Amino acid sequence: MGEDSRYTWAEVATHNGKNSSSIWIVYKDSIFDVTNYIHEHPDGPDSILDVAGKDATKDFDSAGHSGDARQILAKLKIGEIVEEEKKYDANGKKKKKVVQVPPEKERRSCCNIITCGLIG
Ligand code: HEM
Repeated sequence: MGEDSRYTWAEVATHNGKNSSSIWIVYKDSIFDVTNYIHEHPDGPDSILDVAGKDATKDFDSAGHSGDARQILAKLKIGEIVEEEKKYDANGKKKKKVVQVPPEKERRSCCNIITCGLIG
């Protein structure tokens, strides 16, 4: 288990602190083992336990953590989400969901445009 290890969201979910499992959280697709940190957390363990085994990006950011907090977090990194399941691109920007239009629908909307063109 090193910084280069890759895990799926399903694997991360099993590290939720239940049944004496270790506690992992995810911040922008990086995975952190926070098992030994939760009792040092200034706000207490509960806010971290709430996002155990999950994506903690929003919660971590909205708590307005300092640079110190970010440095502590960085040291606890154990891996990353597998490439296919990443939510952020290389610039740390949230990926846009690619919605694929089913072929029939596309054809129908083409027809609609033509029909509208004829009527209008
Ligand atoms: C392992 C991940 C985390 C680390 C290393 C961490 C670290 C810290 C540190 C060092 C502080 C003190 C203030 C500061 O320096 O910013 C803090 C405060 C706080 N943390 Fe975290 N934190 C983590 C995760 C979380 C999560 C997931 C939440 C969820 C909401 C959270 C909520 C808070 C809150 C509300 C405070 C404010 C406490 C206050 O100002 O009295 N933290 N955290």
